[in-house]
Amino acid sequence: MKILVAYETAHGSTVGVAEKIAETLREQGAEVDVARCRELKTLGDYDAFIIGAPVWGGNWLKPAQEFLRRFGQKLAEHPVAYFHTSGAAGIDDQRETVVRGMLNVLPKYAPAITPVSVGAFGGVIDFSNYNIAMRLIMKAVVGSQGGPTTGRHDMRDWEEISAWTAEVHEAFEEGPAG
Ligand SMILES: Cc1cc2nc3c(=O)[nH]c(=O)nc-3n(C[C@H](O)[C@H](O)[C@H](O)COP(=O)(O)O)c2cc1C
Repeated sequence: MKILVAYETAHGSTVGVAEKIAETLREQGAEVDVARCRELKTLGDYDAFIIGAPVWGGNWLKPAQEFLRRFGQKLAEHPVAYFHTSGAAGIDDQRETVVRGMLNVLPKYAPAITPVSVGAFGGVIDFSNYNIAMRLIMKAVVGSQGGPTTGRHDMRDWEEISAWTAEVHEAFEEGPAG
């Protein structure tokens, strides 16, 4: 099975998640490419797609929204899984809220897609990456969720990402959802 992992990122942490997903799929015998949404001009001849982006202000980063708008109809002909990285998903009791939020938001961009799975993973919060405005927003948002308000915090759980990927691969091999 040939799979594309398409990701977006602003500060780099989602690339690592996309690469871990690809590594896990390859270990299971899949042929995998990893590409940034904003750089993809065509979809290519993949059998299945895993698409992921960081959450910004309760939504996917814009180039990932645009990728779904542009290719949604075509993507829906194949099995698709979504994943997100965010600050909230790194906080155990917030994760379900992120998944529910995204399930409400993403059909706006690609109504034809019924994802076989939606993964929510803690990303990296690094206050040194943010300008003053972003820092204030992040302090307020992450702080109100019980998260950190200074420093760098890598919340990526590689085992969890691999376990989710293995489940998705199994679902892909069973065929399209819906
Ligand atoms: C401007 C901005 C807005 C963000 N908004 C949210 C948010 O609404 N909810 C959340 O849980 N995390 C939020 N985050 C945290 C990011 O989703 C998280 O840091 C993610 O890992 C970033 O991925 P990247 O390093 O690939 O860009 C925000 C981060 C930034 C910089």
